[in-house]
Amino acid sequence: MEKRPQFLLALSAAAAAGVVAVAFVLRWVLHFREGLAWDGGPAEFNWHPVLIVIGFVVLQGIAIIVYRLPWTWQRSKLLMKFIHAGLNLLAFILAVISMVAVFDFHNFAKIPNMYSLHSWLGLAVVVLYGVQLVLGVGVYLVPVAPASWRAAFMPLHVYSGLLLFTSVIAVALMGITEKLIFGLSNPKYKDSPPEAVFVNVLGVLLVVFGGLILWIATRTSWKRPSDQVLHALHTNEGGEDNTKVGPALSQLSAGNDAESSADVRRRSNTLDDEAD
Ligand code: HEM
Repeated sequence: MEKRPQFLLALSAAAAAGVVAVAFVLRWVLHFREGLAWDGGPAEFNWHPVLIVIGFVVLQGIAIIVYRLPWTWQRSKLLMKFIHAGLNLLAFILAVISMVAVFDFHNFAKIPNMYSLHSWLGLAVVVLYGVQLVLGVGVYLVPVAPASWRAAFMPLHVYSGLLLFTSVIAVALMGITEKLIFGLSNPKYKDSPPEAVFVNVLGVLLVVFGGLILWIATRTSWKRPSDQVLHALHTNEGGEDNTKVGPALSQLSAGNDAESSADVRRRSNTLDDEAD
C-alpha cells in the first residue's frame, strides 16, 4: 500500500474520534439527561441519539472503509462484501429502532410528528439508506446481475453511499442542536452551561469522524487491489502462501518491478472498479 503510515494515522484518528463520540453520547444521556429506558418517556427518547451515533454514524463509517483495511486484502472479496453489507444492515436496524424510540416518545407525550426539517431529512435519509442497501445486495451479492450492470451501477453506489453518510452527519448535527435548544431552559443554551459545551464537542467529534472517513474512502491509492493484482503478485511470489501478499504489495509501491506491476494494477483496477 502507498503511504501506509498516513493511512494508519488517518485510521487511528478516525477510530479515536468514533470511540470518543460514542463515549460522549453515552455520558450525555446517562449523566446530563434521564438515562435509558423503554417507557415512552424522555429516557426512551435518549435511545434516539445513542443508536444513531453508534449505528448510523460509527458502524456506517466502518462499513464504508472496510475494503481499505490492508490486513483484509488476503481475504476473499466475497467475504468482504458480506462484512460491508452486514455492517450496513446493522446500522440500518439500529437507525430504525432509534426512529421507533422517538416516534413512541412523541406519541406518548402528544408532541406532533414530522414537523421539523430535521425529521423530514432524517426520515428521507433512513428510507434512501434502505433503498441503497436493497440495491447493493441485489446487484453485488445476489449473483444474478450481469457484470455490465454491476459496472454501470458502481459509480452511483459509491456516490450515493458517501452522500448518505454525509447527510446522516448533517442530520445528526441538526438533531443535537434542536435537542439542546429544547432541553436546556435554566440556564439556557445561549448561556453555555456545561451540558451545552459537552454536547457541542460531540458535534465536532462527529464532523471530525465523518471527515476522516471521507478522506480514507476517497484516496485511490488506498483502494483494495483487484483480485487479479493479488493473484498476479501471489503467482510472482511463486507459491500458495498468502502471507506473501502483504510484502509483495509494498514492493510494488516501492517501485520494484514498477512498470509491469503498475500496468497489471491499472488494467485490473479498471475492471474491478467497473464490475464490483
Ligand atoms: C441521521 C441521524 C438522525 C435521523 C435519521 C433522525 C431522524 C428523526 C426523525 C424522523 C424524527 C421525527 C420523529 C417524529 O416526528 O416523531 C426525529 C426527531 C427528533 N430527533 Fe432525530 N434523527 C437523527 C439524529 C438525531 C440526533 C443525534 C439527535 C440528538 C439528540 C436528534 C434529536 C431529535 C429530536 C430532538 C427530535 C424531536 C423533534 C423533531 O421532530 O425534530 N436526532 N429524528
